[in-house]
Amino acid sequence: MSGSGADAVAQGQLALWPTPMGVHRWAQAAEVNPLLARVLGSLRAMAQPGPAGFFASEDDLLERIRLPEWKDFLRFVVDSLHATVAQANRGAWPHPAPGLQVHLRGMWFQVANQGASHDVHTHGNCSWSGVYCVQVDDEPRRVADPVLGSRNGVTRFYGPYFPRLGGAHADLGNAYLQSAHLDIAPLPGQLIVFPSWLAHQAMAYRGERDRIIVSFNASVHAAQGGDRLRGYAAA
Ligand SMILES: [Fe+2]
Repeated sequence: MSGSGADAVAQGQLALWPTPMGVHRWAQAAEVNPLLARVLGSLRAMAQPGPAGFFASEDDLLERIRLPEWKDFLRFVVDSLHATVAQANRGAWPHPAPGLQVHLRGMWFQVANQGASHDVHTHGNCSWSGVYCVQVDDEPRRVADPVLGSRNGVTRFYGPYFPRLGGAHADLGNAYLQSAHLDIAPLPGQLIVFPSWLAHQAMAYRGERDRIIVSFNASVHAAQGGDRLRGYAAA
C-alpha cells in the first residue's frame, strides 16, 4: 500500500506488519572463532578497562582488524544481510530486484561475564543490525547457572506487540499478543540479523568462558539511482 491514497482490499483476513529477522550460521566458525577471540582479547587489552565483567569496544572494528579470516567473516556478514534484507523486502522492492550495496556502518564487540548485561535498546542511523556470537559457554554449562538458568546470556528481542501489553489484559482473543518477546540462545558461529528498530537486550551472563559478541549496523542502498521507491503524499 502506498501513503498517497486508499487501496482496494480484498475480503478476507489480514496478517499485517511482521518482524523480519534472519538466523545464519558461519561454516568457518569452529575454525576461525578462536582466532577472533584472541584478536578481540588483544584489542581489549589495549583499550581503557571497563567495569568488572563487561567491556564494549569502539565501533571501529572494520578498520582495526586486517586478517584474511576477517575478510571472510565480513563477506559472511554481508551475504547474510543481503539474504535477510532481500527476503524482508520481497513484496516492497520492484521486480526485478535492484542491485544492492550493503554498507556496514559500524562494528564493535562486547565481552560479558560475572552477571553483566546490556539493557534494552535499539540502534540508530541504520536500517539493519546484527549480532554474531564468537564465544560463550557450552549449552549444558550455560543453562546450569543456578540463578540465571536458561536465560543465561541469551539475547532477548521485544516485538512490536510488546508495548501493547500495557494493562495486561489477557484472554483467548488476544493470545496472539502474548508471545511478545523472543529469547535466542547464544551459539558460537550464529549471526542474528534484525531490523534496527527492534528493541533488544543482552540478558545477564555468567560463565566459565566470557561471552564475546560482535555487533554491527548496516544500511542498504540501490547500486544505482535513489533508494526511495515512493514519494510522500501531501498532508
Ligand atoms: Fe544492540
